[in-house]
Amino acid sequence: MKYPKEYLDEIKTRLKVSSVVSKFVTLKKRGKEFVGLSPFKNEKTPSFTVNDEKEFYHCFATSEHGNIFDFVMKTQNLRFGEAVKYLANLAGMQPYIFSKQDEEREKKWKIYLSIYSQYVNFYHDQLLKNDSSLIARDYLKGRSLDKHQVKKFKIGYVDKNPNFFEKLKVEFNNEDILETGLFYFDERNKIYVERFKGRLIFPINNISGQPIALGGRIIEKNDFFAKYINSPETPFFKKGSNLYNLDLARKLSNKLENIFLVEGYMDVVGLSKNGIENAVANLGTSLTEKQIFTLNQFFDDIIICFDGDESGYKAALRAAENSIKDLKPEKQISFLFLPDKEDPDSFVNKNGKNYFLDFSKQNKISIHQFIFKHYEKNTKNDPSSMAIFDKKLRSIANSIKDSFIKKYVLEYFLEKISELTPHTSQNRKNFSFKKTKSLEKTKKHFNESKSLSGVELKEFSLIYLIINNLDLIQQNIHMVENIKLFTEVNKQIFEKILNKLKSSEQLTIDQMEIDNQLIDKISKFAPIKHILKNKSEDEHVIVELLDDIGRDLNNYDLEFRIQELESKFSKDLSETTFNELKELKKKQNIN
Ligand code: UTP
Ligand code: MN
Repeated sequence: MKYPKEYLDEIKTRLKVSSVVSKFVTLKKRGKEFVGLSPFKNEKTPSFTVNDEKEFYHCFATSEHGNIFDFVMKTQNLRFGEAVKYLANLAGMQPYIFSKQDEEREKKWKIYLSIYSQYVNFYHDQLLKNDSSLIARDYLKGRSLDKHQVKKFKIGYVDKNPNFFEKLKVEFNNEDILETGLFYFDERNKIYVERFKGRLIFPINNISGQPIALGGRIIEKNDFFAKYINSPETPFFKKGSNLYNLDLARKLSNKLENIFLVEGYMDVVGLSKNGIENAVANLGTSLTEKQIFTLNQFFDDIIICFDGDESGYKAALRAAENSIKDLKPEKQISFLFLPDKEDPDSFVNKNGKNYFLDFSKQNKISIHQFIFKHYEKNTKNDPSSMAIFDKKLRSIANSIKDSFIKKYVLEYFLEKISELTPHTSQNRKNFSFKKTKSLEKTKKHFNESKSLSGVELKEFSLIYLIINNLDLIQQNIHMVENIKLFTEVNKQIFEKILNKLKSSEQLTIDQMEIDNQLIDKISKFAPIKHILKNKSEDEHVIVELLDDIGRDLNNYDLEFRIQELESKFSKDLSETTFNELKELKKKQNIN
């Protein structure tokens, strides 16, 4: 039964974590915290800490972490309800009396559980002993599974003409039996039909190990029926909330840091057969936040290992985009891609435990790397495709709730994008972003004078292009007349040239009456001349370059503010800064 939050909060406010923990562990005060020997591990130097202010304990040796309820459950092996009762008593509070509705639900739950347990036990025994299950035992043999796995996972087999409804009917009413989803009512023939007939059944347990649903695999080749079916949703089974094998795998969380998240029941069973017990499956639906959250309560490192085919890849991508939002510091989500056509079951059976674990160590990539790689791979060599890529990554980073993670993922993406840009800029002169970077680079290589700023150099390039292509500019004055310059001197020359070009007929640079020294300086330092050197200077190239520089200069102000904000964001991590940054980036993309 679910306790109201206020009741649990009341217990928490009455009991300090240190006072609960010190009933079982000797604690010493150290600064704001208490330290002691870990109850989760044999150790000589204390690595177990308690922080009353933050209301949690943390064990650095095992990464165990939680509040008073977790502590009592884990160290005293109690279920949640039992821990609540114990702690309420310790806090001097009355046990919680559930309402009529609560009681009703509790009653229903007991019936549900009883039906499921009987069902699972019955068909499990049938599979192990009954002749009618020979076909299923042969099937398992064919997949080289033996009694060990069948028993560990309580796998069962429902024969083709089952009759369990009649047995259940003696003890339970039809409504309660139907509610389990194990049967459905056939309207035409007016009979109750076993949903899982002719299937191997895999019990799906809640976290305490009680069966609440089933997965069923057909064992005869058949085109009419789905290979696997799951129980429908019931009041006690919600898809997307449970994970297959979590009840067993979670017990390893004191020993192991990571958990494999796979697609199928058989993957879990196959891995277990090969000695890899820390695996759970997500029941054929796409991964939910809830499932990640639950896994994270036990394991710091989730390795998502879906099938090595297209649908596995797509599912992985969906999982990545969904779960990056909830990424937390100290928690990791990574992805392991298997060779084509393999799934964890086939791969571990072929190669064995050590190879699998080794392969996983070598080949897993973290969630942000995977997302980056995926979009990079699907991005073409043109500005609009790059802009979409850039935007997409930023919006993914922005979806992350934790501000620290958000910051680092954003930085990772930005870093990777900027690595990408100068490298490819030779082939892509139309890049609309990070232009500053490549011109900065040019500046470093060719400019002797450190006193010129990036924007000045860009302005030099603009003027250089204009004065060396007066005819062309005169005919296409619209291309340059709206460009905004920043440096006062350059602005003056620029305007002077524009006016001359607009007013007169044919002109040469000497007729422009511009300070010769300045012209010399521009000719010497304009970075653009180094680019022009190796290129045919046809009109097309000039127009393109002018276009680039014009856009850069118009973006300069924006870029400058963006750079400022990015560095501000990396310091203050504030949501406001981030949103401002996003707005500016949006504007920049529109330009
Ligand atoms: P797979 O088709 O990969 O099955 O589906 P598998 O785990 O490799 O099983 P075997 O080795 O062929 O027996 C992976 C998971 O997707 C869901 C099931 O949860 C299955 O374990 N699924 C698959 C369905 O729900 N329905 C289906 O028809 C197929
Ligand atoms: Mn598979």
